[in-house]
Amino acid sequence: MQKNYQQKTLGILGGGQLGRMVIQSAINYNIDIHILDPDSNAPCRSICQRFVQGSLTDFDTVYAFGRDCDVITIEIENVNTDALAKLAKEGKEVYPQPHLIKLIQDKRLQKSFYQDKGIPTAEFILTENKEDVLLQEDFLPAVNKLGREGYDGRGVQVLRNKEELGKAFDAPGLLEKLIDFEKEISVIVARNKSGEIISYPSVECSFHPTANLVEFLFAPADISSELEQKAQEIARKVIIELDLIGILAVEMFVTPEGEILVNEIAPRPHNSGHHTIEANFTSQFEQHLRAVLDMPLGNTDLRSPAAMVNLLGEDGYSGEAFVEGLDQAISQKGVYIHLYGKKLTKPFRKMGHVTLLDENLEHLKERAKEIKEVIKIKA
Ligand SMILES: Nc1ncnc2c1ncn2[C@@H]1O[C@H](COP(=O)(O)OP(=O)(O)OP(=O)(O)O)[C@@H](O)[C@H]1O
Ligand SMILES: [Mg+2]
Repeated sequence: MQKNYQQKTLGILGGGQLGRMVIQSAINYNIDIHILDPDSNAPCRSICQRFVQGSLTDFDTVYAFGRDCDVITIEIENVNTDALAKLAKEGKEVYPQPHLIKLIQDKRLQKSFYQDKGIPTAEFILTENKEDVLLQEDFLPAVNKLGREGYDGRGVQVLRNKEELGKAFDAPGLLEKLIDFEKEISVIVARNKSGEIISYPSVECSFHPTANLVEFLFAPADISSELEQKAQEIARKVIIELDLIGILAVEMFVTPEGEILVNEIAPRPHNSGHHTIEANFTSQFEQHLRAVLDMPLGNTDLRSPAAMVNLLGEDGYSGEAFVEGLDQAISQKGVYIHLYGKKLTKPFRKMGHVTLLDENLEHLKERAKEIKEVIKIKA
């Protein structure tokens, strides 16, 4: 008998905060979640139905894990896609599809894909090693990116001038024009097996100047309706051209000339969608479940303008985490705390986030800055 989504077991590769928030949604549907993660203290460990401690990149481990699931998805891209491809071939449902995870794992393939499909992106050249980059003086100012395994800004190096060329990576990567962007925005788009597509209103990200992590996020993005429409169209085009099932975060730059360029994509719940738990009719985490289990997709309208603040481990503190200022923060209207269940803090580790709802966009901006000063993760 064909199983209904209510009877299916969903396996997730990765048991961090993204998986944890997917489980929080899955509980409402009685959906069982199995988790594979190398860390014995992974944030999902205590709340999933089955936890397997093991490598996400080892073929045998991923294959054995997936055999016991009906549907398999990811919360991190760095996984063994050969094992996933074998599972898919043997009849398991694997979303996003393994060949797409493989493409997205490599920024070189990603950028070439945009180019092939006519999706606007910063001009780039592929480079094989440092020597290759050193030859590209005329291409500066540029951003040198590692092809694989860069995340949270590690694997991204700005090369403004000849003097900075020495910082280039000595590994396969790419060199991309430095974009003097006005804003960074992100659109999350979802597609299920039945072909339904839905996208979220764009959000605006502002980055921590040194840690290279999203510091604040505001929804909706403060852009014109023309730009909003353009961003929505681009996000939809990306998911359609990929033919991806699941959710996809599309990070984009808005240039001073009103152009929108795709920076990179992530085929999973994303930091730029955390506010959707409280701020939208359907959260990105529930949408991810809906997409990979072929449930009807949920409405994505904003219920209220929102801000999101990442709670990063305070610089200078390592050890057992302590949240300072929590009482003061939660005494305010519209403040929602999410702690990720990580015992140990270290500088800039993502320990949680706060979502703020406020009808007034100006107040939101002030309050987001305030909250950041009130709550500190120390040890
Ligand atoms: N071509 C560019 N021009 C200007 N700034 C850029 C460019 N590419 C990247 N950046 C800046 O560097 C940040 C990180 O780049 P990117 O998103 O490619 O790296 P990542 O490490 O994969 O990202 P994440 O932080 O999303 O894990 C971007 O959000 C943006 O602020
Ligand atoms: Mg990025």
